[in-house]
Amino acid sequence: MRVAVGSDHAAFSLKELLLDHLRRKADIEVIDMGTETETVSCDYPDIAFRVGEEIAKKNVDRGVLLCGTGVGMSIAANKIPGIYAAHCHDVETARFSRLHNNSNVITMGARIISPELASAILDTWLSTDFEQGRHTARIAKVLDYERKVCPGRAFSEKGKTVLFEHPLMLHKVSLIRNKDTSVKEFRELVQEIAGLMVYEMTRSLPLVKIEVETPLERTDALALAGKDLAIVPVLRAGLGMVDGILQLIPNAKVGHIGLYRDPDTLLPVEYYCKLPGDIDQRDVLVLDPMLATGGSASAAISLIKKRGGKKISLVCIIAAPEGVSKVHADHPDVDIYAAALDSHLNDHGYIVPGLGDAGDRLYGTK
Ligand code: RB5
Repeated sequence: MRVAVGSDHAAFSLKELLLDHLRRKADIEVIDMGTETETVSCDYPDIAFRVGEEIAKKNVDRGVLLCGTGVGMSIAANKIPGIYAAHCHDVETARFSRLHNNSNVITMGARIISPELASAILDTWLSTDFEQGRHTARIAKVLDYERKVCPGRAFSEKGKTVLFEHPLMLHKVSLIRNKDTSVKEFRELVQEIAGLMVYEMTRSLPLVKIEVETPLERTDALALAGKDLAIVPVLRAGLGMVDGILQLIPNAKVGHIGLYRDPDTLLPVEYYCKLPGDIDQRDVLVLDPMLATGGSASAAISLIKKRGGKKISLVCIIAAPEGVSKVHADHPDVDIYAAALDSHLNDHGYIVPGLGDAGDRLYGTK
C-alpha cells in the first residue's frame, strides 16, 4: 500500500515519528509530502491539497494528514472530490471510519493526542478493510452527490484541465492573439507565458530540508525534492516555449518530438523522437502552444508512454474544446494546463478566435 503523509508545522514532529513508524512496515511504501520543518509556519490547506490530489489521481492509496487539531486538515482535504477524510482521535472511530465509511484519509491533531495513541490509531486504520454490505449503498449516495456537483472529477481516473487565471498571463495571451504583434514580440511573449505557466504548475512541488552555510552561520533551508523534470516540445511550435521554462528550471532535460500529418489519412506520423534516456524516472511536460484537434498532442504522449514515460502533463497556451476532449479520451491519466480555452475549431482545423499558426508567428514563415 502506498501512503502519503503530510503535516503543517504544528504537527511536524508527529509526522516525523509516524513516518519512522510506517517505514518499519514491509507492506507499506510511505511518501513524505512535507512540511519540512517546524520552524517555518505554513498553511495546512496547502499540504492537505497536495496529499489529497495524490490520492484523487490514484498515485497513492491512502493519506495521513496531521495539524495542531486535525480539524483544518480534514476540512481542507474533504473539499477534494474523491477524498473521504476521517478526523480521528481514538482507535474505535478510526476502525469504523474504514469499516463503514471507507475513509481514504485520516487526520489527527498533534496538540490533542499523544504520539503513542496516534501510532495505535494509524495501525488500526491502515489494517482495517471496508466492510461493504449495507455501507456500500450509503457510500454510493455520497459518490452520486459528488459526481453531480463535480462532474468528471469525483473518483474519476480522468486527468484534469487547469486553466490559469493569472492577470499577467491573460494580458500576455491577449498580446499574442493580436495579428499586429511582431515576430520578435510574439516569440518573447510565448517564452514569458511558458515560464509563468510552469511557475504556477510547480507551486506544490515537494521540498526537503537541507543545511546551508551562509557567510554568518549554518542554517536550515529548503530545496526541491522529488522527481526531475523533462520537457518535450512538439516540433516546431513547442520549441517556442522551451527557453522560458529552462530559465526557471535549468536542470530539466529536453526531448524533441517531430510529427507531420499524413495528407491521405490526416493522422500524425512520427519523423523524429529523441527523449532523455531516463524518461521513465521524470515528470514529463509535453509542450505545444496550440491544442487544436489534439491529434499530434495525443500522438506525442503515446510516443512518450511507449518509451517508458509515466507521469505526463500537457502544457499548451490556447486550447480548443475538441483537443481537450481528444487528449482526455486517449490519455485519461494526463493533466492539461492551458492559459485559455477558446470557442471551437474552424473547417481548416484552426482554433477560433486563437492566434493563427503559432509556428508561423514564432518563426515569421508566413
Ligand atoms: C496551526 O496553529 C493550527 O491552526 C493548525 O495546525 C490546525 O490545528 C488547524 O486546524
